[in-house]
Amino acid sequence: MSKYILLSGGAGFVGRWLFEKLSNDGYKVVVIDNLSNGNMTNIISGTEFYQIDISIENSLNELPNYEFDCVIHLAAQASNAISFLDPMLDLQANQISTYNLLNFCRNRNIKRIIYSSSMSAYGQPLELPTPENNQMLPDSFYAVHKLAGEHYCRIFQKEYGVDFTIFRFYTVYGHGQNLANVNQGLLSIYLSYIFNKQPIVVKGSKDRVRDLIHVSDVVNAISMSLNSEVAKNKTYNLGSGESHTIEELINMITNEFGYTTGKYPVIYENGTPGDPFQTKADISKISKELNWKPQISVIDGIKLTIKSYNSK
Ligand SMILES: NC(=O)c1ccc[n+]([C@@H]2O[C@H](COP(=O)([O-])OP(=O)(O)OC[C@H]3O[C@@H](n4cnc5c(N)ncnc54)[C@H](O)[C@@H]3O)[C@@H](O)[C@H]2O)c1
Repeated sequence: MSKYILLSGGAGFVGRWLFEKLSNDGYKVVVIDNLSNGNMTNIISGTEFYQIDISIENSLNELPNYEFDCVIHLAAQASNAISFLDPMLDLQANQISTYNLLNFCRNRNIKRIIYSSSMSAYGQPLELPTPENNQMLPDSFYAVHKLAGEHYCRIFQKEYGVDFTIFRFYTVYGHGQNLANVNQGLLSIYLSYIFNKQPIVVKGSKDRVRDLIHVSDVVNAISMSLNSEVAKNKTYNLGSGESHTIEELINMITNEFGYTTGKYPVIYENGTPGDPFQTKADISKISKELNWKPQISVIDGIKLTIKSYNSK
């Protein structure tokens, strides 16, 4: 018998690829999204889809009474920068939504949730590469609300028996990010400037360092955790462990478009608040416990992403 999964944020970037992977693996996936940043073009025809704003209490009651084996919670306002422009929206979209979804699990007797947290929850990490037990000192409203979601998972497990797996995503990239949202993403932001034939506007120093992970590696890790007993009630970094400066990344991208290094115009502006200077995941825990390893190097992933945009 197929297993039922409820996927929140399934009209978004990661959700779209995760839906495809899980459906191919034989799961029945029901998608919810409020389409605030997602798009109906990401919903494959025939998908059971509900346009629901999870931040509204009881909004999930309209879902049919299926016996969901697991909830995968990707829905979020996913930008540090936007969380400073509208902290209340971020509180609702991230913290309150996660609480509501956990409460739904409790009320419907759903035994498992997979929660997409963020490396932002570390703030500027004290240790690099950063292990999961690094001190949590979130520096943005987004990061605080993501971290609160982790604590809700822990409380709902302890008090109501809802098992969790938490993934702290690093900077995820790949084909299908919302190019119209220049406050969210990294590769997608730089690509949107190039596609519009404009100088790349970089917020913050070119010396910042980022751990980037291709979306297919993220999707694989989530799918591997689904049937894993070991992953129950665990928190994992989900990065590549490979990091590059912003300048290196811009060179990789612009070279791919045929520009000699340094020839594409780039404008550096002040950074966004709460942006950590350096990120690099310690992925030894997830590699050991889930037997997962990233399959796509950053340079290959950038090439692949640009190729998929150019072939559309
Ligand atoms: N992409 C990254 O680099 C990255 C890094 C760290 C963490 N994450 C986390 O991973 C998850 C997926 O990110 P993504 O890149 O696919 O983002 P995304 O914005 O493409 O997808 C999130 C989806 O959630 C939906 N949504 C937002 N608020 C909602 C609400 N109140 N009710 C229902 N749906 C709502 C949006 O419409 C969107 O489709 C998010 O939780 C994000 O915080 C992403």
